Amino acid sequence: MQVITSRSRFEGEFELPGDKSITHRAVMLNGGANGEAVITNALMGEDCLSTCRCMQALGAKIQIDGTTVRVKGTPVFRDGAELDCGNSGTTIRLLTGFLSGKNVNAKLYGDNSLSSRPMNRVAEPLSLLGADIKTTSGRAPLYVSAHELTGANVELKIASAQVKSALLLAGISASGETVVSEPVKSRDHTERMLQAMGANVCVSGNKVAVRKSELKSVDVCVPADISSAAYFMALGALKGKTLCKNVGVNPTRTGILTAFDKLGVNYTLKNQRISGGEETADILVEKSDMQAITLTETFVPAMIDELPLVALLCAFADGESRITGAKELRVKESDRIKTTAELINGIGGDCVELPDGFIIRGKKKLTGGNVDSYLDHRIAMTAAVGLIASEKGGNIQSPECCAISFPDFFKKLGV
Ligand code: S3P
Repeated sequence: MQVITSRSRFEGEFELPGDKSITHRAVMLNGGANGEAVITNALMGEDCLSTCRCMQALGAKIQIDGTTVRVKGTPVFRDGAELDCGNSGTTIRLLTGFLSGKNVNAKLYGDNSLSSRPMNRVAEPLSLLGADIKTTSGRAPLYVSAHELTGANVELKIASAQVKSALLLAGISASGETVVSEPVKSRDHTERMLQAMGANVCVSGNKVAVRKSELKSVDVCVPADISSAAYFMALGALKGKTLCKNVGVNPTRTGILTAFDKLGVNYTLKNQRISGGEETADILVEKSDMQAITLTETFVPAMIDELPLVALLCAFADGESRITGAKELRVKESDRIKTTAELINGIGGDCVELPDGFIIRGKKKLTGGNVDSYLDHRIAMTAAVGLIASEKGGNIQSPECCAISFPDFFKKLGV
């Protein structure tokens, strides 16, 4: 259990851990590339460690020294590997795609939460490319069998970077072209990194085309994760002033800033630059009076992991907010529509679940209380923000899950 005391002010300058999505891709793609690469400011949270272990099991050489990871890639993977993906949806989905054209057999599995998440969303479109993947009633364990890939034209019904990336990573082993289009553009780190590694990739709006390619290792300097910075940015808006340094602001990830614009949060981007092919900036956020917002489906992909936090901010805003088009939240590490509503109501807010989102009646002040993380890192960290900003604070049950994406979260928070 973690005790969180309420604070009247929260102020400071923060260096946040490296981006989870970029770290996964830097380790996985370099793990399957020709050559050696150094990844700096890598996130060494539990999820990315799962990716490191899987790539080692496939034959890549990986050395971890703090947040620096040295990877010697292997374009040919070891056959018959049993790959423990832990809690990580990104590991299992991307790797299933990457493995499917590599002429190997493999089993991919994970923990209870991962084993309850839908996997047909990758298995089915991958089969259109010619892949042979068996699921366990649509879930993990997944079994990849060696099969030649032909490529395919795939129109995704949901915007999912994990599914898109699985298809692109399969597509680079296929004999023909693979084109993936999505209804709204999801995070594009895979496309960017494939391009940097010399792959045959062509991006046009929400469509990405790939052809057979060999990957050349590339050094990656990982920016701080906006999904981790978001908790500190939110505390700036609620309780004072925060500056988050060197944060990745790739436009497919900055939905939280769109939410800030709508809520009326006062923020500035400073020192904007491009680092390692990704937009980066320092983000200053100051205490703001927030008003209710409406968010619909098109806004969701760019803030998918921040939606529990956005819903919490709505609980502190003035008026009734409505978030819809977010039913993907039901199949994350927890059912985040249910767990977010429980969290907000558990600390004195008023949040009603919708099948695909929430209605949140803002109260400006929340009392605090005891909340459960449901073993979901994003829920635990959102709860910490809510309790710090509440009148009385409270407790978080099962707080250790923060280590999935932000190992020293509570230390950085100063609790
Ligand atoms: C991720 C994509 C998103 C996100 C997840 C990381 C990625 O998942 O929620 O935390 O790194 O590609 P979906 O693709 O399921 O939306």
